[in-house]
Amino acid sequence: MEELEQVKQQIIHFVKECNHQKSLDLLDNLATGKMLRSKLILKIAGVSKESLELCAVVEMIHAASLLHDDVIDEADTRRGKPSVNALFDNKTAIMFGDILYSKAFTQLTQMDKKIAYTVSNAVTLLSIGEMDDVDLTDNFNSSYDKYLDMIYKKTASLIEAASRSAAIIAGLNEEKYALYGKNLGLAFQMIDDILDITQDSKTLGKPAMLDFVEGKVTIPYLLLHERLENKEKLESLYKKELSNEESNWIKQQMNETKALEDSINLAKKIGNEAINVVKDEANSETLVLIMKAMTEREF
Ligand code: FPP
Ligand code: MG
Repeated sequence: MEELEQVKQQIIHFVKECNHQKSLDLLDNLATGKMLRSKLILKIAGVSKESLELCAVVEMIHAASLLHDDVIDEADTRRGKPSVNALFDNKTAIMFGDILYSKAFTQLTQMDKKIAYTVSNAVTLLSIGEMDDVDLTDNFNSSYDKYLDMIYKKTASLIEAASRSAAIIAGLNEEKYALYGKNLGLAFQMIDDILDITQDSKTLGKPAMLDFVEGKVTIPYLLLHERLENKEKLESLYKKELSNEESNWIKQQMNETKALEDSINLAKKIGNEAINVVKDEANSETLVLIMKAMTEREF
């Protein structure tokens, strides 16, 4: 069986253990994503009972966080399919998230203590990151440091934990793999923020150019804001439904000031830092491929 299919089967197995048919039915409504975290774990730790269980735990935590995130963001679509909150309601999305999340933690208690600590600590960070993300939408945030800290917590922390845990399973240098995972996660979120601007909604599986409307000043907007002489026009469009003309103006300014190009370069630079850390590892070629797949992706 293909590796990722084995992870999906492991998730089904864990949910079956909950003895709750509705949860199993709801699992069918979750569109599986790229499973980046599982790919990373399996490339580092290989396929074993331990690594597959870790993948399932991490994917269940990730799925739970997205179920809650779609309620928080009032998002109707997830990965090109209707989100659970849209298909059913907010209550169902929250409660199903709680079930996946707590079952994942039950399984974590059965795992290596260091892995359990690493993953559970990352979940605290990701929850704080989500709150920071929401709080940063109160006002136009022009601080790169705040943005970086928020995306580290919201996204990179769980990828860092997945990478570190996989290294623990494989008996590899965990600090190296943690740093690789952290930078991979940071680059991943920056690319996500760039794709929000460069891709259409069909490719994204969700509405395009929504971040700024929602009050999220992501990396391309941060650089644009820094570089615009007249910042007022950009500030006036903040948290507004954008007309075609307005979104085209933003994109044009991002091209002229090279804010977009430099955001891509920054993501790639962080990606290269990730690669540098593990360049002497036996599996470095695969780790480079994972990074490339991530920074060159279109959705
Ligand atoms: C998606 O980001 C959201 C996250 C990566 C983290 C969400 C975390 C929580 C809701 C904390 C609760 C955690 C658990 C385990 C229950 P995004 O909104 O930038 O990306 P999107 O465009 O894919 O929605
Ligand atoms: Mg969201």
